[in-house]
Amino acid sequence: MHKLTDNADDLILKTLLSATPLFVSGSVIASELGVSRAAVCERLKHFRQQGFSIEAKTHRGYRIVEEPGRPHLALIKAYLSKQYQTQIPLSCFDCIDSTNDEAERQRAQGQQAPFVVIACKQTKGRGRMGRQWHGSEEGNAYLSFGFQPRLSPQRMQRFTLWIGIKVCDFLNKYTGLPLMIKWPNDLMLEGKKVGGILTEAHVDTEQIRDLVLGLGVNVNSNCRNWPKELYDKATSLSEALNRPLALNPLLAEITQTCLKAYHTFTESCVRDQLFTHWRDYDSLWKKPIRVQPGKVSLTGIAEGIDENGALLLRRDDKELVALNAGEVSIRTTL
Ligand code: BTN
Repeated sequence: MHKLTDNADDLILKTLLSATPLFVSGSVIASELGVSRAAVCERLKHFRQQGFSIEAKTHRGYRIVEEPGRPHLALIKAYLSKQYQTQIPLSCFDCIDSTNDEAERQRAQGQQAPFVVIACKQTKGRGRMGRQWHGSEEGNAYLSFGFQPRLSPQRMQRFTLWIGIKVCDFLNKYTGLPLMIKWPNDLMLEGKKVGGILTEAHVDTEQIRDLVLGLGVNVNSNCRNWPKELYDKATSLSEALNRPLALNPLLAEITQTCLKAYHTFTESCVRDQLFTHWRDYDSLWKKPIRVQPGKVSLTGIAEGIDENGALLLRRDDKELVALNAGEVSIRTTL
């Protein structure tokens, strides 16, 4: 008999998950891991303390009846495909200042990229343009990716747009909800914000050295408890679906989606695909908008993005301008 290895928890959970709704006998799990049945029982007891409900039946074995509603490291790994399960360093925190900050700290300590940081809660979650990202509620997705892409800084804008549409595309298929993107990286659902992306980079003279991509998605927020100003502007997937979503498989799928999207972007020129997909999900397309790139605001009609991912605005005097930054709002009164 061997001692339990570091990834024993992921393997036990993977075995149970792949058999669901059937039972798996304790001796099968024990022999697959090369450990005693008592060691397996001990781990199952530990899982129960962590919020799993595991049914045990004599002569049949065990099966998972309910998973924890908060992120669980071994469970997320068990949901990942083999390639990512073994190759991508993943850490999961109960409560952290910001997953983006933690990713930066891990990079500074020499963590090999790509890697992923997930948290149940954040105390200092950050959004774009210095805004706060509320992270005190559990049941939502707060995660960051550490990348070392070796891209020219000019391609960074396109990279975040690319990840945004890939996440949007995945969530549409996964939930059946009609999510769209508001330039540059707001995930929108019927006019309300449901998630956002914050990309932060360290740039050497010619190349992006380190890049942290943070993603927040309101998955199971009970929006009815929010202040009215927030409820008018934001929503959650569970609110739209009228049912809670299992967080751990969703986190695993989002993780895989972003890692795959990263590899496609760094290996090939996704320019054409970006344009096609962007048009499919562009919530601003041909809408009257106001953009605030600095102190003055510009008005006009949104006409998609240019080859660098800048927002194209057809101004009221018909001039077409490309904007690289700014707060965008849809004008309800012209
Ligand atoms: C925005 O819409 O302004 C971007 C929001 C990004 C929020 C996420 S939550 C996980 C990661 N950690 C942070 O501090 N921010 C990002």
